[in-house]
Amino acid sequence: MLVLFSLALAAVASAQTLSPSVQHGKRSALPAGWSRVRRHAPDAVLPLRFGLTQPNADMNTLQELLNDVAHPDSPNYGDHWTPARVAEYFAPSKEAIHAVLSWISESGVARDRVRVGKTKGWVMLNATVAEAESLLNTEYHVYEHDSGTEHVACDAYHLPAHVVPHVEIVSPTIDFNAILNKRSTSVTSTHVRVGQPGTGTVNPVFAGKISTIFDELEHCDKQITPACLRALYKFVYPFPLAGNKNSYGIVEYTPQAYVPADLDQFFANFSSDLVGSRPVLESIDGGVVQDVQRGFNFNGESDLDLQYGMALVTKRQKVTLYQVGDLSMGASFNNLLDALDGSFCSFDGGDDPLNDGIYPDVADPTGYQGNDCGTLTPAHVISTSYGYNEADLSPAYTARQCAEYAKLGLLGVTVLYSSGDHGVAGNGANCLNPDGSQTTDGKIFNPSFPSTCPFITSVGATQVNPNATIFEPESACEQVIFSGGGFSNYFAVPDYQKGVVEGYINSHLNPSPYAAGIYNTSGTSRAYPDLSANGANYVVAVDGGFGLVYGTSASSPVVGAILTMINDARLAIGKKPIGFINPTIYSPAFQGAFNDITTGTNPGCGTTGFNATKGYDPVTGLGTPNFAKLLPLWLLAK
Ligand SMILES: *[C@@H]1O[C@H](CO)[C@@H](O)[C@H](O)[C@H]1NC(C)=O
Ligand SMILES: *[C@@H]1O[C@H](CO)[C@@H](O)[C@H](O)[C@H]1NC(C)=O
Ligand SMILES: *[C@@H]1O[C@H](CO)[C@@H](O)[C@H](O)[C@H]1NC(C)=O
Ligand SMILES: *[C@@H]1O[C@H](CO)[C@@H](O)[C@H](O)[C@H]1NC(C)=O
Ligand SMILES: *[C@@H]1O[C@H](CO)[C@@H](O)[C@H](O)[C@H]1NC(C)=O
Repeated sequence: MLVLFSLALAAVASAQTLSPSVQHGKRSALPAGWSRVRRHAPDAVLPLRFGLTQPNADMNTLQELLNDVAHPDSPNYGDHWTPARVAEYFAPSKEAIHAVLSWISESGVARDRVRVGKTKGWVMLNATVAEAESLLNTEYHVYEHDSGTEHVACDAYHLPAHVVPHVEIVSPTIDFNAILNKRSTSVTSTHVRVGQPGTGTVNPVFAGKISTIFDELEHCDKQITPACLRALYKFVYPFPLAGNKNSYGIVEYTPQAYVPADLDQFFANFSSDLVGSRPVLESIDGGVVQDVQRGFNFNGESDLDLQYGMALVTKRQKVTLYQVGDLSMGASFNNLLDALDGSFCSFDGGDDPLNDGIYPDVADPTGYQGNDCGTLTPAHVISTSYGYNEADLSPAYTARQCAEYAKLGLLGVTVLYSSGDHGVAGNGANCLNPDGSQTTDGKIFNPSFPSTCPFITSVGATQVNPNATIFEPESACEQVIFSGGGFSNYFAVPDYQKGVVEGYINSHLNPSPYAAGIYNTSGTSRAYPDLSANGANYVVAVDGGFGLVYGTSASSPVVGAILTMINDARLAIGKKPIGFINPTIYSPAFQGAFNDITTGTNPGCGTTGFNATKGYDPVTGLGTPNFAKLLPLWLLAK
């Protein structure tokens, strides 16, 4: 992980009052569309929040903890933690709270103006801009987006050296991924997706309506249906047995919404016993299946995810829909995580107004007036087809969220994210420039988050080659979209992946055909995706007609369905769910249970990207699942 505060530790011992000021965060460039308009008024009030360092949440400790419950060779495989154990183990120390509180009062702010959050994770203070500037040795400015939205931020900020080890994140400071004002009436801002503030293209990609659905299996190169996927991945499991113990969650962010009639139209053709079936709605922060706005951009993702997710697990397994965010404020991944884990829960100060939906929605009386914190028991498998570019977020923000995915792993949850649809480029085909900004003519590869978090499972996309049958190997997806993949700029390579990443770099990227600095060539950074599944030519019913849809958006719910059925088989014989799968799937026995994808590339940023090759590659990961091989292996595991 890129450490922002590397100067800090040497200075900790010095007297506190003499503690030197150390840079804690700095943004390298302004995101596209924003410009700095003026210095912020000194008497304006900022809701300053200090996220305290969680003990044991460093990457190495998290890896060790997860290996203990998630590595198939561990005697404790499957012995997942309780939420209470997670909360206690990661609670910030008294020492951290004390250090921050005394520094703030030594700086002249009355102690009774400072509040410690219920979960002890956050220290909060409504500070004037002048106070905040003095505490953080910075200057606050007002920035304006082309759309007219204003935003307050600084370019860099500092903390006293003795405070640095106790603080993970301070907001508002440098983060800039403002959710553009949802109250605006223009269509472009109301359908902004998580991770695609303002400018991103919406995936999955719709390639027009179709009038004929081909006979199943003969034309899987032109149209993917549930039957094609079952055949490709030897995924035959018609009678789930543990439906009431098992769970499969699919996440959607409002205003994305499924259309009930679309589900029925799809089920009528592909899974007729499901006609009339709906997902179980778990509304988070006012999440609604809205029917006000219609069109592919509002319904395509949800219709796709639920039609395939539900058909593949059959009627005997309910699918849970996590619908996140009200129509007015919207939401982000942190809002979902708040609801899933009370220990992350941050209604008392943790969410970042620039990145996350803040509830209760005080600014809008029609918005959600509650706040969902620790309200849900997470499903065993959770699939999300939304994502950010890593560079949209600060390293501290991504680290905090990534640690939270590790906690879900400790609880026994499998977290899947689609890897992105632009190959080595990011959302909207944006690439990085040397100054850190993102543009479509940038040259530096732009990795996807949370895919680069080592504690989630990232799913890339494959295709049945044109004119090929389901009996021939698939390639990396090269139709309409390209499988997101590459190497993180923020996260170090996890142990489970070290061997294959080194192998790939030594055999294929040594020497690298690309100029230095285009991607992290060191072999010490996290590579993604972890695995893949078909992402081309999905037959989906959207807004009353069938069309063809493309994207890693399709791949993730398919992998989720397959893993959910593996959980079913384990639960039915009294075993635990598979939980965090990465230490397992990279183990030698399991690597052989994937269909290795050895052809195709993931172009982007003016290059052909990386090559799919024998073994792991940062295009299709370990390959696509072979359910018939994976099931017995996972049934044998403790
Ligand atoms: C900051 O101000 C808001 C709005 O007035 C208030 O709700 C909140 O409790 C205050 N926070 C602190 C820490 O004083
Ligand atoms: C779906 O099934 C119906 C009823 O069997 C059939 O009439 C229709 O042609 C199918 N739809 C398509 C697009 O093939
Ligand atoms: C697939 O087959 C059709 C008809 O035989 C042919 O026109 C087309 O060029 C083939 N496409 C590829 C990619 O081989
Ligand atoms: C590559 O990634 C590693 C691990 O995250 C990091 O230590 C190193 O500084 C990175 N190298 C470059 C050139 O960015
Ligand atoms: C991909 O394979 C082609 C053909 O073998 C080779 O020329 C190219 O350098 C490879 N690119 C990368 C990034 O590995």
